[in-house]
Parts: sequence; C-alpha cells; structure tokens
Amino acid sequence: MTEQRYVAAIDQGTTSTRCMIFDHAGTVVSVDQKEHRQIFPQAGWVEHDAVEIWENVRTVTAGALAKADLTPTDIASVGITNQRETALVWDRKTGEPVYNAIVWQDTRTDRIVTKLGGGDATKYTATTGLPLATYFSGPKVMWILDNVDGAREKAEAGDLCFGTMDTWVLWNMTGGTDGGLHYTDPTNASRTLLMDLETLSWDEGICADMGIPMSMLPEIKSSSEVYGNVRERGSLRGVPIAGILGDQQAATFGQACLSPGEAKNTYGTGNFVLLNTGTDKVMSKNGLLTTVCYKIGDQPTVYALEGSIAVTGSLVQWLRDNLGMIATAADIEKDAKSVDDNGGAYFVPAFSGLFAPHWRSDARGAIVGLTRFVNKGHLARAVLEATAYQTREVIEAMNADSGVDLEVLKVDGGMVVNELLMQFQSDILGVDVVRPVVAETTALGAAYAAGLAVGFWAGEDEIRENWAEDKTWTPSMDDAERAKLYAGWKKAVTRTLDWVD
Ligand code: G3P
Repeated sequence: MTEQRYVAAIDQGTTSTRCMIFDHAGTVVSVDQKEHRQIFPQAGWVEHDAVEIWENVRTVTAGALAKADLTPTDIASVGITNQRETALVWDRKTGEPVYNAIVWQDTRTDRIVTKLGGGDATKYTATTGLPLATYFSGPKVMWILDNVDGAREKAEAGDLCFGTMDTWVLWNMTGGTDGGLHYTDPTNASRTLLMDLETLSWDEGICADMGIPMSMLPEIKSSSEVYGNVRERGSLRGVPIAGILGDQQAATFGQACLSPGEAKNTYGTGNFVLLNTGTDKVMSKNGLLTTVCYKIGDQPTVYALEGSIAVTGSLVQWLRDNLGMIATAADIEKDAKSVDDNGGAYFVPAFSGLFAPHWRSDARGAIVGLTRFVNKGHLARAVLEATAYQTREVIEAMNADSGVDLEVLKVDGGMVVNELLMQFQSDILGVDVVRPVVAETTALGAAYAAGLAVGFWAGEDEIRENWAEDKTWTPSMDDAERAKLYAGWKKAVTRTLDWVD
C-alpha cells in the first residue's frame, strides 16, 4: 500500500460535478459538488457549457480537499468518471470549445442516424454493440462538423479534438494547450458508435461514414493505469491520474459487480442497469446494448449488457423546474405517500424518445389514464412508478438475453433514498432490492480504478470486502396486482409511439 491514506474521484455528471475523497475502507471522507446549467436551445436539444464544467471541476476538487483539511500530498491518485456519450469538440491550439457539449439526451441527430442507417438501425451493431440512435456521440460530432462555421476545415487540418467529458477533464488537468493528454478509456469509447468492441480501437470505416477525421479522436488507454500527473495550478497538483470509467461502468465497479452474472441499477438522471458478462461479448436480441464494463491495465477486457433508460430522476427535476409542482426533489415521496396507488394514471417520460429496450426516437412523453379522480398525489406516484416499470422492462430483456432470471438487484444513485420507490421496485420486479452502505458507487468505482493502478488497493478482493449491505426490500405485492399494474404500463407505452415523423 502507498503511504498516502486517500484516493480522490471526480464525477462529472449530467447535472453536477463532484469531487469525493475515499479512504482505504471505501468510506467517503469528503465531498464537494456544484451543479451546472442545463441549456435547452430548442425542443429536443440539450447542451452544456464545457468551460463552466471545467471551472466546476477546479472548484469542487479544491472544495473537497479543503473540507477534509487535506493537501495533494495526502492523495495517492485521482480517478475520473463522467456522464457518457456527451460530445465536445475543441480547438487544440486555443483550448476553446467550438460549440457547447451536446448532451447524451439530445435528439437533434435523429435525421442523421436514420440516414446513416439507410433503414437499418443495426448497421454498426456487430462492430460497436450499439444500435444507431441519437444517444451516442459519433453523430453528435458529425452534427458539429456539419453545422459550426469552419469546423470541418479545422478538423481536417488536425486542429480540433473530440472528447467525451472524461477526455475534456483529463486534457485540462494535464496542461490543456500546454501538452494536455488527449486520452479516453474503452468504457467511454464504447459509447461513441465509433469503437470496435473486439479490438478496442477506432473503426476507420464508421469514422469515414460519419466524416470524422481520425486525428480528432483521443487515444484509447485502459480504465486503470497512470495516464499522467495533474499539471494545472492549484488543487491536486502532482497527483497521478490513474483511472477513467464512464459513470455507469464506474458504478458497476463500485458495487463490486466483478463476476459474470452480477448486476446493478443506478438511479440518476436516467437509470442504467449493467450486467457483468465477463470476457464474453454477449450480443442482445432484446434491445440491450453490449458495452465495455472495464479494462484494468493489460488484463482482458470485461464486457457488460446494458439497459439504458433516459429519463427517471430527471422527471422529478422536470416536475420541480418546469412545472413547479414540487419545491424540492424530496417532496415527490411525501406527495406520493398521500395516496394508496396511482389512481389509474401512468406517466411515460419519453422526453428523449424511448431508449432500451424500445429504441424509438419517434416517441414523446405522455400522461394517460386521467380522470377527475386523479390528484397531485396520484401523479407523484405515477412519476415514481415510471422508474420502476422502465427498470422492469430492461430486466426482462436481460433475463431473456442471459437465460438466467436475476434474483437480486443491487441499487445505487440519488433516488435510492426514496423508500416508497424502492419498495415498489421490489414489488414490481418480484425480487429483492439491495442498497449498499456507500450508495455513491459511481465516484467509488472511479476511485477504485485509480487506486488499483497505484497499489493503494491490492486487488479486486479488497473491493469485494469493502462492499456492505445497508438495506434490503422484499416483494410484498401479490402476483395478480403486479400483473395488472404492469399491463397498464405496457399499454401506456404504446400511446407514446409514432409521435414524431
Ligand atoms: O449514458 C448517460 C449516463 O452516463 C448519464 O449518467 O448519472 O449523469 O445520469 P447520469
């Protein structure tokens, strides 16, 4: 073990950026967090200001150190985890983004992806593990090159860099225009639609189809190795950066889902269920993604099946920010508890179309089953229940793909403090739902990747030992009720389809 007692993780998420510091037992020692602006220039478009995000990274790393009265010499290494797919293009000479980051939820590329597929959404699936959908980065980069004045010429001259948020943060932390490292890891690269899942290298044919010059692309390193040291002035200076994992893969790692067959569900802006499939690249027949789970140093690549749900926690945020129906996110549980059931109402939050297992970019959100009986409490329940039903849809797809029924679901993320939701999740799945003591598994997973690379943790056994159960919810709903409620959901989903031409 190294002499330092802590590892840091930077979690650059969809709505906020956090820095968390962990000790050897995986306990949170310090945390600082800052939200950034969500920019909606028009319907279906979602952007982030990457310069604001970089400023926030600096603020929260300094904040987390200060809160625990630590200096960089106390930190053995730092890991980066991030919202995946969100695409940024910047000028390597000036360090300035040529356009805002286009967020994973953004649907502006729907025509681009239809055209690329020529009627076949599975055109690149065998190579990348992904269907052609607005979710992924490649078509977003294509949109920037096609729509920002002068961008294509600059890209072809080798002056522009593409990166997901891990790459943007790493490049800036390691010097930016003064020799910043332009790297990513296979978990992030596997979400671009540009990487070959087998070789972990960029696919030249797909890049050519999308008109993306190879010179823009970061080098793909492993998820756990020393990439370089922090060079920017201020906090964490000199600390080795030694782990990069997309946030959902980081949560899988932090949940110690390190053996084939182990799965977790993270309740964040969206929900993401990942099932570790070991070194097997399992291709889904039921609408799931095949993705890289992690690659530790030069060890074999570990893959996962993923069920991605675009809108869960962000629906609660939408009620708060767009409708003003609740004052704080926590109020949703209070309102939902004021009634016994959903009163017949269902809320299908297809704000970005529907992701897994449907992959329908033509879907848009709907509230159905309304009568004069329905009140605020019923709607609050319908909002929470939507998360649980969507989770059941992807777990069913996972059971069908793997041929094995999931027996217990490990959960983490912001919404798992919601007792009503957790009980309903267990009821609607008919399986136990288990929350670990450290529910901040995303940052923890990135810390583990960074700590393993410098010997702070000796190996995966130590990670398994650190995992501890906090609470388990057990199903208490009868089968007939479960079937009736879920049938209502399935019917509601059909009402959202074919909305956009
Ligand atoms: O694929 C999108 C995902 O990485 C976003 O995660 O936690 O920021 O909602 P989160």
